[in-house]
Amino acid sequence: MTHAGLIDRFGRVHRDLRISLTDRCSLRCTYCMPADGVPWLQRDTMLSTDELVRVARVAVEMGIEEIRLTGGEPLLRADVVDVVDRLAHLDGPAGHPEISLTTNALRLPQLASQLVDAGLTRVNVSLDTLRRDRFIELTRRDKLVETLAGIAAAEAAGLAPIKINAVAMRGVNDDEVVDLTQFCVDHGYQMRFIEQMPLDGGHTWDRHQMVTGEEILAALRARWTLTERDDRGAAPAQVWDIAGTDASVGVIASVTAPFCGTCDRVRLTADGQLRACLFAREESDLRGLLRGGCTDEVLADAIAANLRLKKPGHDIDDPGFLQPDRPMSAIGG
Ligand code: 5AD
Ligand code: SF4
Repeated sequence: MTHAGLIDRFGRVHRDLRISLTDRCSLRCTYCMPADGVPWLQRDTMLSTDELVRVARVAVEMGIEEIRLTGGEPLLRADVVDVVDRLAHLDGPAGHPEISLTTNALRLPQLASQLVDAGLTRVNVSLDTLRRDRFIELTRRDKLVETLAGIAAAEAAGLAPIKINAVAMRGVNDDEVVDLTQFCVDHGYQMRFIEQMPLDGGHTWDRHQMVTGEEILAALRARWTLTERDDRGAAPAQVWDIAGTDASVGVIASVTAPFCGTCDRVRLTADGQLRACLFAREESDLRGLLRGGCTDEVLADAIAANLRLKKPGHDIDDPGFLQPDRPMSAIGG
């Protein structure tokens, strides 16, 4: 099997596989879930570790070079260290895949060094505010101190670079753009601001509540001189070096400046559905194939067929845009 299976109709070569390990989470971020959570996936529909590693193996053999573990909160999966270990040992045309993780950091104090030993190389941590009262309001849990301890544990375990993700929200945390960035400058982390996308379980997204990438940049420019980097590649973030520091700051303007044209990502949900885009309306049921006893060849064909359905872009700004049925927590970030 070669790269050929992972090129879509628009010539985009897919190298990044995002696997959601669970849709459960220990926080309830308002932009992601209603207070009561979302209807959770049934346990028996979730892929076993053997099943998800098999999909990943076939995908790596087809050309996937990086695997990002997401959720929900991926560290809630009981055997996450074993999952990382098995994925890190896969082998494809480009060698072993790089394994990274998007997490709320709450379990990193217990797990960070085991994850590194298993082969994890990088983490992205979600942190939308540095103020305890806001953290409680935003995540509906009193866990700021634990989150910061998790970030410190990642650093102590040697994970680098550490990226901090914040979703900017009007009247909620948009006055913390400089403070969050300064926190990252001080600690040697990389700050990434994300425009809020219509992916929440409660369907509460409102375009006017969204803080745009331009507004975020204006806030940063009021404090620092920024120089745009030109090595973006397929990365969602546009990155600026911050003059007078060793740090950079990124903005992921998914809504106002979509980067779909260079997208190299494909997603596997915790219940075994393949999605070529966060906003895809088509899923391919790999779980059904796996449990029906399919061959690797059939699995590879299904992956390639799903990519052929991938649209050029997400059309969030189109009047006919429909939010995907699944919330972000069930797709994987
Ligand atoms: N819009 C933008 N980003 C989101 N995330 C979760 N929901 C949304 C949304 N509606 C982010 C989280 C985390 C990553 C997995 O995705 O903050 O950093
Ligand atoms: Fe959990 Fe991430 Fe959703 Fe927050 S955004 S509730 S941390 S899955």
